[in-house]
Amino acid sequence: MCAEEGVRQFLDLGSGIPTILSVHEMAWQVDRDCRVVYVDNERVAVAHSELTLAGIEGADIIEADMCDVDRVLGDPVCQRLLDLDRPIALLATASLYYIPDAELAARTVDRYLDAVPSGSYLVLSHATLGQDRRDAMKLSRVLEMTHSLTSAATARTPEWIAGLLAGLELVQPGLVYTSFWRPESLRAQDDTPWHDAMLAAVGRKP
Ligand SMILES: C[S@@+](CC[C@H](N)C(=O)[O-])C[C@H]1O[C@@H](n2cnc3c(N)ncnc32)[C@H](O)[C@@H]1O
Repeated sequence: MCAEEGVRQFLDLGSGIPTILSVHEMAWQVDRDCRVVYVDNERVAVAHSELTLAGIEGADIIEADMCDVDRVLGDPVCQRLLDLDRPIALLATASLYYIPDAELAARTVDRYLDAVPSGSYLVLSHATLGQDRRDAMKLSRVLEMTHSLTSAATARTPEWIAGLLAGLELVQPGLVYTSFWRPESLRAQDDTPWHDAMLAAVGRKP
């Protein structure tokens, strides 16, 4: 969506291991000149990206804590691939909830948004507690699973998640469950607990 809106630079915070297409593969379907910087602090995810990106121009990975904003933006990879004077899509999908300190998570998003110019985007998805009892029960099962991993996930309220988008112009359909964010672009609807428990939004910096 951001590439279709003319954005040619992407900073993927907490990039993980892609399941379908990588961000650079999707962006390059729109324009091969798109630049993509991935950031992750988990060795296996970074090693996977290093392997898949070896020898590829225009996309690279930084092994770093996304909360260390100066370290990420000052990294030679960022300096080489991203021009902070031109719009950047900041992707924080399914990653902020691994930052246990809510204030730090929100401050991190603010700092990246401060560093990018007007016309940049924040693409966000975040686990939520929701208001539906069934959702809450499903989510607690998902979160329990993360407790055996290196970092446990923290669900947050829709109000807190909406706060991350303050000052941005919300792209339609706004802040909604992931399966309602332009579902026509999905190949199939599925009703996994994960989809029910995640809110998603895209905001544009005015
Ligand atoms: C569930 S995966 C999401 C991957 C991808 N963004 C997506 O939407 O499919 C979360 C990723 O965030 C990474 N992560 C969590 N906390 C992080 C941090 N503080 N800095 C950088 N990466 C982080 C994890 O290592 C993991 O690879």
